[in-house]
Amino acid sequence: MTGPRHTEGESNTSAARAAWAARQENAATRELLRRDADAFLHQSLSSPCVSTIAKAEGIWIEDTAGRRYMDFHGNSVHHIGYGHPRLKQAIRDQMDALPFAPRRFACEPAVELAEELGRIAPGDLGKVLFTTGGSDAVEVALKLARAATGRFKTLSFWDAFHGAGFGASSVGGEATFRSHVAGPLLPGAEHVAPFHCYHCAYGHPGPEECGLPCASMVDYVLAREGDVAAVVAEPMRAVPVTPPPGYWRRVREACDRHGTLLILDEIPTGLGKTGRMFSFEHDGVVPDITVLGKSLGGGMLPIAACIARRDLDVAGDFALGHYTHEKNPVTTRAALTTLQIIAEEGLVDRAAELGDHAMARLCDDLGSDPRVGDIRGRGLMFGVEIVSDRAARTPDPEAAERIYYRCLEAGLSFKISAGNVLTLSPPLVIERTDLDRALDIVTAAIRAEG
Ligand SMILES: Cc1ncc(COP(=O)(O)O)c(C=O)c1O
Repeated sequence: MTGPRHTEGESNTSAARAAWAARQENAATRELLRRDADAFLHQSLSSPCVSTIAKAEGIWIEDTAGRRYMDFHGNSVHHIGYGHPRLKQAIRDQMDALPFAPRRFACEPAVELAEELGRIAPGDLGKVLFTTGGSDAVEVALKLARAATGRFKTLSFWDAFHGAGFGASSVGGEATFRSHVAGPLLPGAEHVAPFHCYHCAYGHPGPEECGLPCASMVDYVLAREGDVAAVVAEPMRAVPVTPPPGYWRRVREACDRHGTLLILDEIPTGLGKTGRMFSFEHDGVVPDITVLGKSLGGGMLPIAACIARRDLDVAGDFALGHYTHEKNPVTTRAALTTLQIIAEEGLVDRAAELGDHAMARLCDDLGSDPRVGDIRGRGLMFGVEIVSDRAARTPDPEAAERIYYRCLEAGLSFKISAGNVLTLSPPLVIERTDLDRALDIVTAAIRAEG
């Protein structure tokens, strides 16, 4: 079956991928790739795989041929670096003390984690449910919004990603997850064009002059429908796309006006990645519900969380989550320890500082490069958009793929988003010298386009 044009990651089927695969001569690597492709159902962004992995430590991954790559993707799980020794020890100790807890038995690490998330989340966000993955945490948030409002409709953004489940795919806005094999999706899942100043759906040149029609449209749809349960969105898109100033305050006001809850998905952006604990803190708003995942498990174990306003605890007779590992002491211990490491190693401030440095360097080195249309991001989540025509802002996915494979050859792994955006998202523990080395690799790979 032929799929939609991919918008996340590099393509499994491009000429650049075929050329890269042909250059992989190591017998162990080729054999593992062959077995992977044979054993797994093929899907976009996964099998057949781009490479193999045998080790992961700190900012590094290593393949079966012993080649090392700085990992500037890490599926956004690796804030504290891979294999943090303190996290490994905490997990070992917890497995010895209590390896599992059935949901109906309260256990210390799960309770402590829920309490701690309530402490670090702003406003009245304080009631928590855990799931194994982020997509499931989005499902919990959607159900809770239905329960709390008595409404079922949602409003979310085209191009958004909230996970691969049916609920998450319904509020997501990418064809890869919505079209063909995915439908029919949830009824009442309405969409509007997202904020994206570089590729504004309304054709405006920038937030200084436009009056934010992207925010007005949210208000417009909420008013027209009159019964939308929740606006669901990523406060900053991880691809990355940052919101224009004032955007979220306008949407927050619209939600309040229309009795609609605001659910902000912090699964990749949360826990300090953008230089604030929650990325919505850049924008001066507090949602009614937020979801965390990915890095919450410290890059070792899967755990995600839905955190709601305390007064939204209104569905006690129904199952909102009911996931087997909802109170797993080992995954919750991993999350607690990860939060401690983030606090004690000052990783939130570190992300802000290193992110400013990276943005300044990229702007200096590439700001006037004809192949670079835009450089944007927050903290240690930033991206370089590759174009064939700066004036027309024409995406150049072929050039982006060539640049990607050049970087891979030079020892830097990352993801291409939206077909042509080099998406760079290093661990928060990265040393400045390694960050500079990675930026040198990206700059050289772009300049090699000639
Ligand atoms: C914004 C966002 N929401 C939800 C998810 C889904 O998380 P998971 O893959 O753990 O289900 C992701 C994963 O990439 C994400 O980026």
